[in-house]
Amino acid sequence: MVSQIEFQDRMLSLGLARVSEAAAMASARLVGRGDEKAADQAAVNAMREQLNMLDIRGVVVIGEGERDEAPMLFIGEEVGTGEGPAVDIALDPLEGTTLTAKDMPNALTVIAMAPRGTLLHAPDVYMDKLAIGPGYPKDVVSLEMTPAERVRALARARGCKDRDITVCVLERPRHEEMIADIRSTGAAIRLITDGDVAGVIHCAEPEKTGIDMYMGSGGAPEGVLAASALKCMGGQMWGRLIFRNDDERRRAAKAGITDLDRIYSRDDMVTADVIFAATGVTDGNILAGIRREPDFLETETLLMRSKTGSIRRMIYRNPVRSE
Ligand code: FBP
Repeated sequence: MVSQIEFQDRMLSLGLARVSEAAAMASARLVGRGDEKAADQAAVNAMREQLNMLDIRGVVVIGEGERDEAPMLFIGEEVGTGEGPAVDIALDPLEGTTLTAKDMPNALTVIAMAPRGTLLHAPDVYMDKLAIGPGYPKDVVSLEMTPAERVRALARARGCKDRDITVCVLERPRHEEMIADIRSTGAAIRLITDGDVAGVIHCAEPEKTGIDMYMGSGGAPEGVLAASALKCMGGQMWGRLIFRNDDERRRAAKAGITDLDRIYSRDDMVTADVIFAATGVTDGNILAGIRREPDFLETETLLMRSKTGSIRRMIYRNPVRSE
């Protein structure tokens, strides 16, 4: 028989899909309009409204920023109806605000939910990230290896040549040395301008995306969201927080982080079973973007539960009513 908790979990996962759908639909009319702030705000408002309808006692642990920086969905904000299980919520109402404003690929709305106290409270600093898909031996690559060593180790494990590996990297000046080192092996590089949650997720389905490994630094909050997705899809990930100044170290202290050099594995960032939902805003390799037709809006949502390994793809069509 299905236990009460299991049932609740299953129902809540569907609720979570509605939350990410709502955020995507709200940003639909802002795709390609050059206004990042408006797109983000629309997604934030819609996500918060839907989230507050869920029967949870939720606390935002990865959100829009610290309380004094973000009026809504700030870190520590209590969300949900206040009935139901105590959970941690990690969210990014619009992952890829610039991608959305410019109508470039792979903008997503993202949310993850796990039992209270089980998601890393990552401060808003950079994280050095490394991710690979499922099916490899444990720790076949590591953050301690050089980028070229990682390529060689992954190629050996896959039984292919170094040049058959494709690495996804955020195109940033800070990554120039890393890119040169990867290129020295002959491996290919897929450069992305933004959106490293999608970048990491790409590793989980290499046959579809052509990406074998993700590496480089990006937002730490996005790192926890990406780790949540990989925990559902399979795949390994590691992250190390990067502190550039005292203000960033202060943020770490506030988040309760004492070991500043720690390398977090996927399961250190997400220590219990997690539910993850993402909806496509612009077309990407993993999800179709929002389709806007005169009479309806259509979205595609990925909904996953690590407990069961279930992966759902949900198409939602919503009629557009004339005012
Ligand atoms: P936004 O959605 O907030 O614009 O973030 C997009 C993003 O590309 C993330 O995916 C990534 O982790 C981070 O920004 C990288 O930061 P930076 O642009 O400072 O290199």
